Formats: sequence, C-alpha cells, structure tokens
Amino acid sequence: MVKIAVSILSKNDDETIAKLNNTNLDYYHIDIMDGIFVKEIYFPLSKIKEISHKLHHKLDVHLMVQDYDYYINNLHDLNIEYITIHYETLNNIDVIKKIKSKGIKCGLSIKPNTDIKDIFPLLDNLDLVLIMSVEPGYGGQEFIISSLDKVRLLKEEINKRNLKTIISIDGGINNVNAASCIEAGCDMLVSGSYIIKQDDYQKAIDILRK
Ligand code: DX5
Ligand code: ZN
Repeated sequence: MVKIAVSILSKNDDETIAKLNNTNLDYYHIDIMDGIFVKEIYFPLSKIKEISHKLHHKLDVHLMVQDYDYYINNLHDLNIEYITIHYETLNNIDVIKKIKSKGIKCGLSIKPNTDIKDIFPLLDNLDLVLIMSVEPGYGGQEFIISSLDKVRLLKEEINKRNLKTIISIDGGINNVNAASCIEAGCDMLVSGSYIIKQDDYQKAIDILRK
C-alpha cells in the first residue's frame, strides 16, 4: 500500500501533532529551507529537535538547502527513516554514503524543471527519489500535472533495472490527484495542506491511500 508522509510545514502546534499521532500516517515529512536554495527559511534545527520527541512516527526529512552537510551532521540522532537532498545542490555523491553510514536511508529530489533522466546514473545508490510536483519553497501550491510523466519514466527505469528504489511525490497532493500518482508508480505521497485542512485527518489519509 502507498505510504503517506504528512508535511507539517504549515501547522505543527501541539494539538495538530497530537491528532496526527493518532492516525496511521507512515511518516512526518519535515521540510527544511535555508533561505538560499529556496527563499523561505523554516524549521530551524532547534525547532525540529524541540518537536521531534512529540512525533510518534518516523521522520522523512526533505532538505531544501545548499549546505546539506550541516544538517546531516546535526540531525542524525533523531528518529529518521529518510534524508532527501536535492539533485540541484549535489556536489559530491559521497554524501549518499555518508547518510547511509548513519543508518538512514537516502533520497534524492528533483525540481519541476530538472530532467528525470539526469538522475538515472545515480539510481543504484538511492533508496528513494522525490519528485517535486511544485516549485520547492511553499506549501499550498497547485500540483504540476507533467510530474506524472516523470514518475512513469522513473518507474520504468527502476523496473527495468530491478531496483528497490521507491518513488515519492511532493507538492499539491490531494484527493483529486492521489490516485493518478499511485497509478503512475508512486510508492509514497507527501501531503500537507490537503490533510491539514480537513477536520478528520485519518479520513483524509484514507482517501489519499485509495
Ligand atoms: C514544498 C514542500 C512540501 C509542502 C507540501 O516546498 O517541500 O513538502 O510542504 O505541502 P502541500 O501538500 O501543501 O503542497
Ligand atoms: Zn517537502
């Protein structure tokens, strides 16, 4: 079944987190923005450390930052399953080994204008590929439909090479497009605003899974 990662970028007060803890979400998706790779600055490390002990599910960390080493060095002691960095900031593929050496799975993300084929040479080393279906930087944007073509191409390549790499998609995921994402080959859906805006979070998660 498709995994659901809930982005708590827009709402992360105690009441929201307590409600989310009571759902069967798979991961908390933690967006980290440095004001350089993307304009916004959010989720300072101190805030992540402060709220992480309240989160009852594993973390899926999305680093929208230029200096990913700094964050990787400071985040490893949290309950993290995946750390995803951006292909556009990648300057040394040793970082993939570095993340894995900490017992954390490694993901690579691509922005909407980056060609999916650019990351094919790296696929063997990746646990996850995160397709951005909006420009990184903000929640609440509209899903870019052409992202599904990237998912299909990537799925084909993964199957052809018999890899275990999973495909995640992030940005504008809701009840209207979730089924198309799953059909195209996504193994994980990241969703923020759609879930957070509902009263019944579990119901919203169930709708995305179907
Ligand atoms: C965008 C972030 C997303 C965002 C998802 O830069 O990477 O994770 O919070 O939120 P929605 O679902 O509102 O697009
Ligand atoms: Zn994200």
